[in-house]
Amino acid sequence: MSDLQLPAKDVDILLAAAVAAPSMHNTQPWRFAVHGDVIDVFLDGSRTLPAEDPSGRAMRIAAGAATFNLRCAAESLGYGTWLGLAPYPEEPDLLARIVVKPTGQPDDSLRALAEQIPNRHTDRRPSNADPLSQRTRVALVKAAYAEGADLAWLDEPEVRTVLDLVRDTDLREIHDWRRRAERARWVGGDRTADGVPSEALGPRSTSYPAAVRDLGTRPTDRMRQETNFESHPDLAVLSTEQDEPADQVAAGLALERVLLTATRDGVNASFLNQPLEYDDLRREVQRLTGQTGHAHMIIRFGRGRTAKGTARRPVTDFLRMREQS
Ligand SMILES: Cc1cc2nc3c(=O)[nH]c(=O)nc-3n(C[C@H](O)[C@H](O)[C@H](O)COP(=O)(O)O)c2cc1C
Repeated sequence: MSDLQLPAKDVDILLAAAVAAPSMHNTQPWRFAVHGDVIDVFLDGSRTLPAEDPSGRAMRIAAGAATFNLRCAAESLGYGTWLGLAPYPEEPDLLARIVVKPTGQPDDSLRALAEQIPNRHTDRRPSNADPLSQRTRVALVKAAYAEGADLAWLDEPEVRTVLDLVRDTDLREIHDWRRRAERARWVGGDRTADGVPSEALGPRSTSYPAAVRDLGTRPTDRMRQETNFESHPDLAVLSTEQDEPADQVAAGLALERVLLTATRDGVNASFLNQPLEYDDLRREVQRLTGQTGHAHMIIRFGRGRTAKGTARRPVTDFLRMREQS
């Protein structure tokens, strides 16, 4: 380790950027440790979703997204970043290690994306009818590719099949009290530190199956207002070739690069991941992309929407160890 000690004010900026990342049900399943100029990203085993994410894949995706934000923020402060991904056999919860050093050659693409971190929010409302430009579609594919993942746009027949899979998932979930109880714990009501507040659920769709995931479980959320959603949603599937823990972290890096690139282009996103929570349906989704690999996220992109952010926990909750500057 070098003698460089990151100044406390920079650590604050880096961690605020990291935790702005998306996470399933806004569980924020990460912890960070700062030693000198090294930042370690860990899973937080107290913030699991055993019913909906038994393997921890969604947690690792979230931690990867937080790691990508860390890198962008570090580059915007004039640091260069070196990234190593798990496995670290001696510390199974350690997912990524970032070395941060001043550099004369910042990565301009990461610096530009850092500006979008506060603007990125999951938006579950309908999109207006404007189609995404071909330029944006290509930029999003390249963003995924830059982090070692694939983003495959779905044509109309595949979109319809995904919606059928959403219906299959709903049928499986009807009697699954463990999933429903878990979601009720994390979703709904006013939320000041974590979880998904009722106001972030967006309206329900008048049509079914819909290209938006209805996360509502509470009676008032189940009865919320209905509206028409776009009839031709822009859906894409994010996949990686392999499905080891490090690949899932890489999927998170790619997810956040895609989402920040979309935000830069005035495009926002929500997710339709419920089929991916069942192995057989997940394989079916990957098959629809026409490529080999393992699907991690089904993303609905849209325009003309602005969403408010959801709450995050205070830094003291997730910083495991900090040295004085
Ligand atoms: C791995 C993963 C899976 C997610 N799955 C869904 C989903 O299926 N449906 C959904 O509406 N949001 C999903 N989300 C979005 C989270 O609910 C959202 O990131 C979180 O509530 C924080 O809100 P924000 O993205 O606006 O910061 C997912 C996020 C991640 C990282």
